[in-house]
This record gives sequence, structure tokens and C-alpha cells, in this order.
Amino acid sequence: MPKVSLKENDNIFTYEAEEDEIIYHALERQGKKLPHGCLAGSCGSCRMIVLEGEDNLRDPGHIESDTVRHLKETYTEKHGEEFLKNKTVRLSCRAKILKNEITIKPLK
Ligand code: FES
Repeated sequence: MPKVSLKENDNIFTYEAEEDEIIYHALERQGKKLPHGCLAGSCGSCRMIVLEGEDNLRDPGHIESDTVRHLKETYTEKHGEEFLKNKTVRLSCRAKILKNEITIKPLK
């Protein structure tokens, strides 16, 4: 069964997920609400950095890709090019886990 580990401050909490389940739904089902807004992939409020296991996620669709591209542009304008360099940003309301384990951290 896939697992999602959530890093918050210095703590890591691990949740089980169904195969092909949206990350946000997997954690909500177990009582953990991640930051969110539209839950439709367009506002970016549920943005997260995938710290480990990005290959265990289904590839993003065009809605998620467009929103993440816009978010990265915004972060680059505010914090410089290095801030998200080599980091995988996904949306918890769109990203689906397929197998094994991922580790995520909400992106503020
Ligand atoms: S909650 Fe709006 S993009 Fe995920």
C-alpha cells in the first residue's frame, strides 16, 4: 500500500494511501487537512515540495502543470532562481500516488 510522509517543522507523519489516490484526499481521509483552496488545481494553495519519491507519483496533467509553472514564476520573482531550483513542486489536490512512498512538505 502506498504511503505519504508529511514533513512539518522537524516532524514526519506517515499516512497510508490507496493506489492512484490524490494526496490531499488520502490525508484528509485520515484526519489531516493540508492547506487548500479550490481543490481543482487552479489556485495553487495546496502546493507542496516532493522531497523524496517523485517517481512514485502519476505525471501531472495540464491543469496542474500550468498552475505549477505559474507558481514557480512567482517564487522566482520573489525569491530568486535558486529558491526552487531542482525542487519538485506538485499540487496535493491533483497529484496521485501510484506506489511505494513519497515525502512531501507544504510550500509556503
Ligand atoms: S487547492 Fe487549489 S490548486 Fe489545489
